[in-house]
Amino acid sequence: MPRGCYIVFEGVVGTGKTTQSKRLVDDLKQRYPEREIIWTREPGGDEVAEAIRLLAQGPSLAEKMDPICEAYLFAAARAQSLRTVVRPAVERGALVIADRNVMSSIAFQGFGRELGVETVLAINQIAIEACRPDFILYLEAPPEVAMMRAQDKLGDKFESLDASFFTKVAKGYHTMSQHPWTKDIWHTIDANVSIDEVYRRIVEVVKPCL
Ligand code: TYD
Repeated sequence: MPRGCYIVFEGVVGTGKTTQSKRLVDDLKQRYPEREIIWTREPGGDEVAEAIRLLAQGPSLAEKMDPICEAYLFAAARAQSLRTVVRPAVERGALVIADRNVMSSIAFQGFGRELGVETVLAINQIAIEACRPDFILYLEAPPEVAMMRAQDKLGDKFESLDASFFTKVAKGYHTMSQHPWTKDIWHTIDANVSIDEVYRRIVEVVKPCL
């Protein structure tokens, strides 16, 4: 049985990571029809985590959500989906391709909301012990380019925030690219080139899993 593998896509909004991660799944399914290959996302992946997603990022509440509450909600969804979706699949030998993971919490809640890395890691400690990614693919585009691309999408509450928020989020990702937790698994991919070229670089990185 081939070894399972957990590949995570990260980035600010509008970097094309959802498109690229789904393309990777479709392409690999064609090339390796005998392998189990699944796409999942955070927050989300099963019914419980998808329900938390609506609460965590939906634009619908009138009251302001405290950033600590927000961080716990993302961590709660993560605790669920890592245990119900990701870990069992990796243990079966599947390739799991995920749109976001704990790095999003560090970037958005830790830096964007200014909770700090240590606080967000502490909130997530038990949630993430279930499963560590084999690869983090960070799709990097200048915040102004990413924001422009995100504008035509159906907005969650983060997409209506201003440029300074996304500059902080991007700084968070940059900080995490140097953090001991991501040593050996972090790959920054320039997303400011053609879609096909970004995809080519992604496949190059994940080759050891195939
Ligand atoms: P999504 O629709 O997946 O947006 P995108 O296309 O930008 O990935 O929505 C996820 C939103 O939730 C996104 O704006 C980032 C935010 N988020 C956090 O703030 N913290 C987290 O831990 C996660 C997983 C997502």
